[in-house]
Amino acid sequence: MSRGPAVAAVAAAVVLAALVLGGCDSPDILRSEGSAGNEIVTLATWIFGILAIVLVTVWGILFFVIVTGKGRREQDASQTKGNLRIEIIWTAIPAVIVTVLFILTVVITNRIDMPAKGAQFTAIGRQWWWDFDYKDLGFKSPNEIYAPVGRPTYIDVESADVIHSFWVPQMGGKTDMIPGHVNHVRFVPLKTGEYLGECSEFCGVQHGKMRFLFVVVESEEYTAWVERQQQPAARATGAEAIAGEKVIASVGCGSCHAIRGTALKGTFGPDLTHFGSRRGIAAYTLRNTPENLLRWIQDTQGVKPDCNMPNVPLPLVQQQQLVAYLLELK
Ligand code: CUA
Repeated sequence: MSRGPAVAAVAAAVVLAALVLGGCDSPDILRSEGSAGNEIVTLATWIFGILAIVLVTVWGILFFVIVTGKGRREQDASQTKGNLRIEIIWTAIPAVIVTVLFILTVVITNRIDMPAKGAQFTAIGRQWWWDFDYKDLGFKSPNEIYAPVGRPTYIDVESADVIHSFWVPQMGGKTDMIPGHVNHVRFVPLKTGEYLGECSEFCGVQHGKMRFLFVVVESEEYTAWVERQQQPAARATGAEAIAGEKVIASVGCGSCHAIRGTALKGTFGPDLTHFGSRRGIAAYTLRNTPENLLRWIQDTQGVKPDCNMPNVPLPLVQQQQLVAYLLELK
């Protein structure tokens, strides 16, 4: 092997290893835990299976011809031009394959469909975060949703600005979120766990940092979560948090953010009423830890350039008080 191809082979191996090893954090669509996702995996298995048979057959014939035809002169090859029977056969075989793929797709796609019913909540795509509005229950839970295992989840999806796409890879397919139009997502989560959701339609520079968490829990835990979310924000208790509660009321956070039970009533940014209970910051760009939250407040535009939130230019002490207060909002 000369040097060029050897370097290319090593580079390819490194990239492949990085993809395989680095993929641990990203959701695997083949490890579905939702009713719609399972159907998609079934369809994909059928299609790849049929295509694999086609591939192996064609390669087999090709290999056979290469081996048996070796050394024969070109004029000895039998000609098939004008052979009607062969023409019909090799037109019919692809037609049958395509028809089978078509029928499989229609039948399995129909199985994904669930009866229409009122949505439990509305998912609104925004640049670049998720507004999950449980209108009937009276609360919002941006960037993190809970659903009970084994029971149908009904979601209305829409957009406040550009086209986004709602996707929890391990639950089911993608659904476009279109301004001025309501689409519907329906599936049954089949196993408890935390599933990463993402936007799958390019929607601006921070499209890649538009993620959310879909948490599937037992029925009782779901009810408890709803009850907690319905509560207004708790009053601060720690000394630092009490100071932070005063800071947040005085620095203009309320023009974008709401904290139910306080004077903050903004609707442009995520509702922060139970911010401390959420696992992520900035549409799951960072994990919700005191260090990350401080970093987010200090360097918002560095963490997520061009997002609508400005850096919060306060003295460090006040930034730390804000962090203490926000994390108390369980
Ligand atoms: Cu929203 Cu991509």
